[in-house]
Amino acid sequence: MRFIPLERLINLHEGYRQAFKIDGADIILLHEDGQTYAFSRTCPHQNYALDYAKISDGLILCSAHGFEFDLKRSGALVKPAGFPCPALKTYDLVYDADRIGLML
Ligand code: FES
Repeated sequence: MRFIPLERLINLHEGYRQAFKIDGADIILLHEDGQTYAFSRTCPHQNYALDYAKISDGLILCSAHGFEFDLKRSGALVKPAGFPCPALKTYDLVYDADRIGLML
């Protein structure tokens, strides 16, 4: 595994949202409500882009069909409860000096 730096910490601010392509994976790095998250750029339901998806208290809402995923619980599906949909892929963030990134 290797550290993949994504952003300098000084550049993170409320509302920060940036897409990256890392080893073929499309990933969004987002800072909201004082928390930073990294997750797949596409919804696991039908691959709708999450670039502009609403987020509140760690819950991200896909605007295509209204599915909601919990970024604080490994992207688990919250709504619709019980629907057979995989979790939104999330990534653990790693800090290295003044940078934040991923270990891949
Ligand atoms: S594609 Fe996201 S809820 Fe259907």
